[in-house]
Amino acid sequence: MINIIKNTIKKELELFLFNTYNQEIEITVEKPKNQKMGDISIPVFSAVKVLRKPLPQVVETISEQIKNSEYYNYFDKINSVSGFINITLNKGIFAKSIIKEVQQTKNFGESNLGEGKTIVMDYSSPNIAKPFSVGHLRSTVIGHAIGNILEKLNYEVVRVNHLGDFGTQFGKIIYAYLNHGDKDKVEENPIEELMKLYVDFHERAKEDPSIEDEARKIFKELEQGNPKYVKLWEHFREVSLEEYMKVYEILDVKFNSYNGEAFYNDKMKAVVDELIEKNLLVKDEGAMIVSLSDNLPPALIQKSDGSTLYITRDLAALFYRKNTYDFDEVLYVVGNEQKLHFTQLREVVKTMGYDYYEDIHHINFGLVLQDGKKMATRKGKIVRLMDVLQEAKKLSLNYINEKNPTLENKEEIAEKVGVSAIVFNDLKNYRANDIEFNLSDMVNFVGQTGPYLQYTSVRITSIIEENVIDKENLDYKLYTSDASFELIKTIDEYPEILIKAKEEYSPSILAKYLLTLASYFNTYYAQEKVMVEDLIERNTKLFLISIVRDILDDGMKLLGMQVIKKM
Ligand code: ARG
Repeated sequence: MINIIKNTIKKELELFLFNTYNQEIEITVEKPKNQKMGDISIPVFSAVKVLRKPLPQVVETISEQIKNSEYYNYFDKINSVSGFINITLNKGIFAKSIIKEVQQTKNFGESNLGEGKTIVMDYSSPNIAKPFSVGHLRSTVIGHAIGNILEKLNYEVVRVNHLGDFGTQFGKIIYAYLNHGDKDKVEENPIEELMKLYVDFHERAKEDPSIEDEARKIFKELEQGNPKYVKLWEHFREVSLEEYMKVYEILDVKFNSYNGEAFYNDKMKAVVDELIEKNLLVKDEGAMIVSLSDNLPPALIQKSDGSTLYITRDLAALFYRKNTYDFDEVLYVVGNEQKLHFTQLREVVKTMGYDYYEDIHHINFGLVLQDGKKMATRKGKIVRLMDVLQEAKKLSLNYINEKNPTLENKEEIAEKVGVSAIVFNDLKNYRANDIEFNLSDMVNFVGQTGPYLQYTSVRITSIIEENVIDKENLDYKLYTSDASFELIKTIDEYPEILIKAKEEYSPSILAKYLLTLASYFNTYYAQEKVMVEDLIERNTKLFLISIVRDILDDGMKLLGMQVIKKM
């Protein structure tokens, strides 16, 4: 609502200035730096500069014009301080219109922004025969949240898990498996054992570089369909996917497609042919490259032995997706370290003459740090995601045992709290930044944490308890107290927050908003007595806090957190 008011004032004033002075002057309408100054603030400096009139005169003219605004009846006070015109809203009228809007909308926060538009999202995408890393966890959590936000805005979202199931490493793994693998061990603990074989291969290759050639040959034959290798590869893919599925189940993450790199094996020739046809492919020491502008290194499309590369598969995947889904945007949720890759991908598409290169977005993210250092696979020791998730569950169970030992279904709730804590810890930070991974900090029920949000929602539910809220029987005057009004203004921001989160592809905007909303609720609850005798007053207040709870729950779900009823 406030945004509509602000935009209307802007348009009204710009039109007025144009009609009166025949000048196009951009008017900004903002939030005052200091809350005490009012709710809306309009700096007039740009108008003064263009009109070359004294400041007081411009302030006077614009202030007068504001009185003709469509929303004038929402304004209580208009005054000016050193070049800013400040408007204070009439709390009663404003609050009432927002509460009415919330009442009337079925799915508060949704928007028609995405209607008729399709966005393909490429996220999670772990590499077969390797453990699901914390980096893949970030991609999964960020991608899932963005996908949910897009759906709320009515975009059609296609979620693709672009599995890393192809590439020369499979030649190495197959070589190592056939030559010194222990089949039983691999059966028992596939990912860990395959990973060991892979590491071991590199150790051996240092001694005997010729095995690199063996591995390359195997990969080449795999590409050409050697049945023995294909069968092994399929098996490795299957057992790996089984492990990843456990993680997805805990996070409640689903995909529309698991077409990984291998799926494009037979679709790359067309890409190479098209590049040749367009005269873009150049021979460079036997390899095939596309030269790129803007000081970018060339894109390596084909190695001298004829095998293709990561980017070749990505090109094939992109064209396939464009043909299959006719997307309006494609988002790749991948770490900062692949920035060059996606810049090159975009550039190749641009040089090929497709203007939709502009719709390709790399949704980059930072590292996961532990005590300030990169959290990664130490030699021989793997950070196992399942262990981390179990640990988070254990910590939240300790917490629950301390706070609410008689709670039913403690185990189940502890898992939901623990996992959501990890999710929220990731999403509250701007994605491109590194995040610190400290389980006991994130599982804390106080502070800027997931459990704090879940706890706030549960608390509101327990306040409302058995009371039946009558949405029609409200005393709007009660919404004008400072604490109520702050809460109502924040409720009003929800739809815009979601749009902003989409524009910046940043779930942290929503995450931070939910923290603000929760803290305004806590202030409100500390200042106002809700469970009063007077039935209308009680009803009015319960309705307000129920809106807060519904937004918290909705927002948490969008972020991929679990909503709980008791904790
Ligand atoms: N499997 C890759 C990795 O783990 C990520 C794939 C991202 N998606 C893509 N279309 N390149 O590094």
